[in-house]
Amino acid sequence: MTTATIPVEDLTLEQAQAELERLAAEIGRHDIAYHAKDAPLISDAEYDALKRRNLAIEARYPELIREDSPSRRVGAPPAEGFRKHRHAVPMLSLGNAFEDEDVRDFARSIRDFLKLDAETELCFVGEPKIDGLSASLRYENGRFVIGATRGDGTEGEDVTANLRTLKDVPERLEGPVPAVLEVRGEVYMSKADFLALNEARAAAGLPLFANPRNAAAGSLRQLDPKITAERPLRFFAYAWGEVSESIADTQWGFIERLQALGFHTNPLARRCTDEESLLALYREVGEKRASLDYDIDGVVYKVDRIDWQQRLGFRSRTPRWAIAHKFPAEQAMTTLKDIIVQVGRTGALTPVAILEPVNVGGVVVGRATLHNEDEIARKDVRIGDTVIVQRAGDVIPQIVGPVIEKRPEGATPYVFPTTCPECGSHAERAEGEVARRCMGGLTCPAQARERLKHFVSRDAFDIDGLGEKNVDFFWEKEMIRSPVDIFTLQERDQADPFRKIKNFDGWGDKKVKKLFDGIEARRYIGLDRFIFALGIPQIGQATARLLAQRYHSLDNWKSQMAAAQDRDSEAYAELLAINGIGKSMAEDMLRFFAEPHNLDILTKLEEQLQVEDFALTVSESPVTGKTVVFTGTLETMTRDEAKARAQSLGAKVSGSVSGKTDYLIAGADAGSKARKAQELGVTVLSEQEWLELIGG
Ligand code: IVH
Repeated sequence: MTTATIPVEDLTLEQAQAELERLAAEIGRHDIAYHAKDAPLISDAEYDALKRRNLAIEARYPELIREDSPSRRVGAPPAEGFRKHRHAVPMLSLGNAFEDEDVRDFARSIRDFLKLDAETELCFVGEPKIDGLSASLRYENGRFVIGATRGDGTEGEDVTANLRTLKDVPERLEGPVPAVLEVRGEVYMSKADFLALNEARAAAGLPLFANPRNAAAGSLRQLDPKITAERPLRFFAYAWGEVSESIADTQWGFIERLQALGFHTNPLARRCTDEESLLALYREVGEKRASLDYDIDGVVYKVDRIDWQQRLGFRSRTPRWAIAHKFPAEQAMTTLKDIIVQVGRTGALTPVAILEPVNVGGVVVGRATLHNEDEIARKDVRIGDTVIVQRAGDVIPQIVGPVIEKRPEGATPYVFPTTCPECGSHAERAEGEVARRCMGGLTCPAQARERLKHFVSRDAFDIDGLGEKNVDFFWEKEMIRSPVDIFTLQERDQADPFRKIKNFDGWGDKKVKKLFDGIEARRYIGLDRFIFALGIPQIGQATARLLAQRYHSLDNWKSQMAAAQDRDSEAYAELLAINGIGKSMAEDMLRFFAEPHNLDILTKLEEQLQVEDFALTVSESPVTGKTVVFTGTLETMTRDEAKARAQSLGAKVSGSVSGKTDYLIAGADAGSKARKAQELGVTVLSEQEWLELIGG
């Protein structure tokens, strides 16, 4: 069996390692196909699914993050394209040093290479290695003209509009500057801003960023610069790319020039006259590391004299004149107060360590994942133990292991529960599986609640205003207990004057309206999202898409699944014939369809929703690729609905009319936009004409 089909939450440590290796290779192959050959082998959505799986596994097993992990390769293509930007001078990476001796070797090899005698001073600049993503800013005659990510080093993505939103990126440079000047440095997010961002995302039910670096990368690589503008990104300048004339003689002089030009440079940078003072700086920065407001993962040493840098040059991908001296992962010692067991939507029980809160590298950690039953046994962590907690720049900390010498007397090995902590049902562990599962199925409230959270999550129904917190809220108030309840919420709210949402604490008219609008906007949903939202075990996003592609419509899928209950049927054979659907997945799906309660929910959902046929959502439509703008009051649908519909047909919906607009759909009382469209010669359609164009 391949690891590719195992849900992330069920992967053992060994399987996770194998799977990360497979994903690194596969994603790498797609990166080459996309970047180098410009001939992608899979759709962007499928590519994204691979990347997300990789991230999810890394979030669970941060200790397994590979040096060559796709999440560390900042240049992977986004969901939809940014323009590519070929760097005039490649953006290379740095060699690593781990021990003091590696640093002395580094200095020695430079002396050898340059044939310096013992008397000649060899100066360096040492500065923190910022854990963000590098970017190159091109200035022509002092004006910021283009900014790009590093990408594969040769070619990055043009993220100019996004970089312009950073306060630390000057639009114009002060004073005399070379005609062409490329300034390079690190885009990063502070630890405090990262935690605040994740808190807001958790409240909105959005997936969390694993660490400040991922948050910075995710924020910079937004197709909509408005989103980047809302994210507090910062920039430290530290290097240059193409320059039309020399800008300094030394690295230190360059840093001073950067400051004079209006850039931020790192305040901990020092000029050091030999390798021993570099090592002293390394220790000094190491001590400050936890109290800095940004993640750093080492100290970079650079030869100060630029003429020497040029003589030293590069090996294949790294300079001879610079090296990164890495820090070890941040650790701390604390007490394991308790182990709690959480129940996931498929019933899998996940143990979580409750810790005496401890500061690990500047982030207070109170919980850590223990992954599964076997992990606890393997590490033999016991409640009451003093444990070592590690944060390798990641938000989900891990327990390295217990400090045996400090084990309190009488501490006993942890016994994993054999009943569900939420509903008391028996919890079983199937052969070959790592997870123990609650067998309560539909009767287990924890599973039902988690399934609801999945239903509204970003890649499923993605309901604005209904994140995890609000699911919990409405669950507790017994107002949403099944997906159908979401779509009858407004109706019930209107019908019952004594139980209005706006009367609950924290719910004003505005918030209630936002919630209802968010729900209304999702009454149209693509078949692939719909299938994924059902949360059938093993049916992830990619598989849901495969199913939607194969069965086209909800009706057809349902009837084929009903027919496939007969394992001798053609329908069953056809299901298994889908490339990417294995027997165990097929069985999980058929089990779902064999459950009358599930069929009942499907029927009721259909009364509330319009599930779009898949063929429609992907095939060419007359408006695929067109940019459309809606204005005025529409009669047959809400603006959100119209927008969702247009998007599902492949159109881009914009808020304002420009030369790029293909159609303006003007409802009643259309005002200035309609006039502007006419001036620009944009085709203006009535609502009726639009409906005819898109086929009803
Ligand atoms: S100098 C020729 N200085 O580390 C190499 N890089 O592993 C020029 N980084 O891609 C890079 N802080 O993203 C340099 N102070 C610093 C840095 C730094 C972080 C990153 C940068 C680079 C990577 C190399």
